Amino acid sequence: MKVKGEKIAMLTAYDYTFAGIVDEAGIDIILVGDSAANVMAGHETTLPITIDQMIYHAQSVMRAVKNPLVVCDMPYGTYQGNPKEAVRSAIRIMKESEVDAVKLEGGSEIMESVERILSTGIPVMGHLGLTPQSIHKFGTYAVRAKEEAEANKLIEDAIALEKAGCFALVLEKIPAALAKRVSEALKIPTIGIGAGPHCDGQVLVMHDMLGLNNSFSPRFLRRYANLHEESLNAIRNYSLTSHDLTECEFVKVGDKTAYTQGPGSALTQYLMITPDAAGFNLNPSGETLSLEVKSSSPWTLTTPTVGGWLTFNRSTGPTGTSTLEITATANNSGGRRSTTVTLTNTEGETLTINLQQNNKAQQ
Ligand code: KIV
Repeated sequence: MKVKGEKIAMLTAYDYTFAGIVDEAGIDIILVGDSAANVMAGHETTLPITIDQMIYHAQSVMRAVKNPLVVCDMPYGTYQGNPKEAVRSAIRIMKESEVDAVKLEGGSEIMESVERILSTGIPVMGHLGLTPQSIHKFGTYAVRAKEEAEANKLIEDAIALEKAGCFALVLEKIPAALAKRVSEALKIPTIGIGAGPHCDGQVLVMHDMLGLNNSFSPRFLRRYANLHEESLNAIRNYSLTSHDLTECEFVKVGDKTAYTQGPGSALTQYLMITPDAAGFNLNPSGETLSLEVKSSSPWTLTTPTVGGWLTFNRSTGPTGTSTLEITATANNSGGRRSTTVTLTNTEGETLTINLQQNNKAQQ
């Protein structure tokens, strides 16, 4: 793609569902990043994530992916300072997750590990500039290689990684002019994040670009959605609905003159179908509700209306129990609620009404 001048789109994914969406969207490369430590597990740094956890994420992603190349980050402590351990770790990741390649952070200090992994036939993506696994060495997540010495080392490292056989290189948080120099110096593609517009592709952390994480807003980050707000609203609505499901009175026993007479005589009872009807979100979405009442004989019913009295009569008949099942169905996302009303009529005694809210949202 670099040769053709086509930009490479790379995005992180850590789970099956999102990986499927990323695949469907036509992203070129999925990175199972160790940023999972931050966005999936809530750690401050990427250091705590383990190789088992990375493999778990990579396996989940691989179950969904058909087209993109999938690269898995080698987590902190699995390759630094020990090239044999690096090979063992890389082989484990490849064998157990079946990703296409691994990514390692660093230049000359990890070159032996990179070479050994490459010698086993595993494709390697490099990563220079801000390398979050070295946060305790840097002390900050600020832009790297602003000084000439660090910029020169970065260029040397980039060339060495290409020479060693890396197939691509992530450049994180370096000045745009430096990223341009590196991109021009290399045949392999550079993939930038906070490194300006001249790289051969870009990578973003999915949770950041989808606006799932409002607390992280670096200058380079373009948000393509605000899923934090959308999710919050959706979950709040759900929460309100659920609370209403248990707390509201979908059906109220009427305090309109409800009266009973003994068996064999006319009998009338009233129920109020309340307008908020069991937490259906009637407004502002324009939701309307239809009501259905199923009755075991011998009751005759008036047509139920939301906010109106439902009157049911029994002109004659034996004592005993009959059941009304009142179901409210919303015309959109609200689903269905039902309430069972049991009417027990005992000779010589008052009619008792037992309301049992079966307020399960049945979609
Ligand atoms: O782990 C990660 O998400 C990364 C990207 C920021 C490049 O390494």
